[in-house]
Amino acid sequence: MPESFSPGLEGVIAGETAVACVDQGRLLYRGYTIQDLAENASFEEVLHLLLYETLPDRDQLAGIKSTLFKFRPLAEPVVQMLRPIPKSVSMMDVLRSAVSYAAHWDPIRGKDEAANGQRALWLTSQIAAIIAARFRLMNGLEPIPPKEGLDHAAQILYQCHGEAPDQLSADLIDLTLVLYAEHEFNASTFACRVICSTLSDLTSAVVGAIGALKGPLHGGANEAAMEMLLKFKSGEEARQWIREALARKEKVMGFGHRVYKHGDHRADVLERKLRQLAAQKGQQRWMEIYDAIKEPMVNEKKIFPNVDYPCGLTYYLLGLPIDLYTPLFVAARIAGWSAHFIEQARNNRLYRPLSQYAGPPVRPVPPLEQRKQAG
Ligand code: SDX
Repeated sequence: MPESFSPGLEGVIAGETAVACVDQGRLLYRGYTIQDLAENASFEEVLHLLLYETLPDRDQLAGIKSTLFKFRPLAEPVVQMLRPIPKSVSMMDVLRSAVSYAAHWDPIRGKDEAANGQRALWLTSQIAAIIAARFRLMNGLEPIPPKEGLDHAAQILYQCHGEAPDQLSADLIDLTLVLYAEHEFNASTFACRVICSTLSDLTSAVVGAIGALKGPLHGGANEAAMEMLLKFKSGEEARQWIREALARKEKVMGFGHRVYKHGDHRADVLERKLRQLAAQKGQQRWMEIYDAIKEPMVNEKKIFPNVDYPCGLTYYLLGLPIDLYTPLFVAARIAGWSAHFIEQARNNRLYRPLSQYAGPPVRPVPPLEQRKQAG
């Protein structure tokens, strides 16, 4: 086997997958384009596609919805555990702890593929419910039980705010969940597959993936991108800042991608909806700021927005607190992580790459009294 060294495994094929195809020309979830899915499928349908390899028929869709509803209530000790967590703790850190703790009340028996499919649905519901419960407790409110008849995205907003969301908000959240659901061997999914490859369990792989997704070079960029936009009151201020930032060679959050070098298919889909949302809400000023940053990045640096750039502003215009943005990414990507875990387990080989040694040459161990520390 020829050895090759590529920092960050850039350009290295680290496995084979049927779950998704990510390349400059297309983003496919099991053969369906993201554009087609964004227009014609809900998150529940995409969740079924990723986990069970087919889009659901009417009965299967009804079945997955009722299972997600059934799995939503949190065990009382999990709610109790959320209560004392200081407000200063980020929702991503809360999710990392709470998902791990909730697993002690995992109702699914067994670890075979069928059980892990059910566990994936249970985790999908638990993650959404933990986000909402933490949101309520942060605001001095009691968590509320799920409401019959609401789809997954609407249920998240209902359990946060205590009232069913307007259709536009529900549809936009559902769209972001579809767009965020899966993306092949990104850092958090790769972390998930590495943990799976040791024959560890799905929840451990998901907790590891949450830790990976938190980083601003990965999922944390949707929060960081919105924090950047909040610095500006006008397009002119943003134009001034981006010129200085590029001169400082600063990484601009929400832009660039390891694979997409001519644009992120998901960003294009979401940006169209974001422009409609901003127009409907009379928030043109935000689009001026948004475009003031985007234009020089695209026209001068040829560095394009990734999905996190339009997503941060979309969530902001929907009135969601920034601390919820990356957790909502988790609420979607649990679908992709679970699908990859199941696929890895089917045809497993332990991930154990080589490394290139760059340490000191061979040397003898000196006796203790001769070990003088330099300086
Ligand atoms: C996600 O992998 C996935 O699929 C991830 C994801 C998914 O769905 O799972 O798509 C989700 O994580 C999207 C990415 C979110 N992260 C950000 O928006 C953070 C900002 N982006 C950058 O840090 C960067 O673009 C990365 C990390 C996303 C990709 O970086 P690469 O492939 O390692 O590219 P690089 O850092 O080597 O950059 C190449 C050049 C450099 O310039 P030079 O040093 O060669 O002169 O492009 C520049 C970089 O400085 N560059 C940027 C930039 N991204 C790259 N310059 C300014 N701002 C940026 N955002």
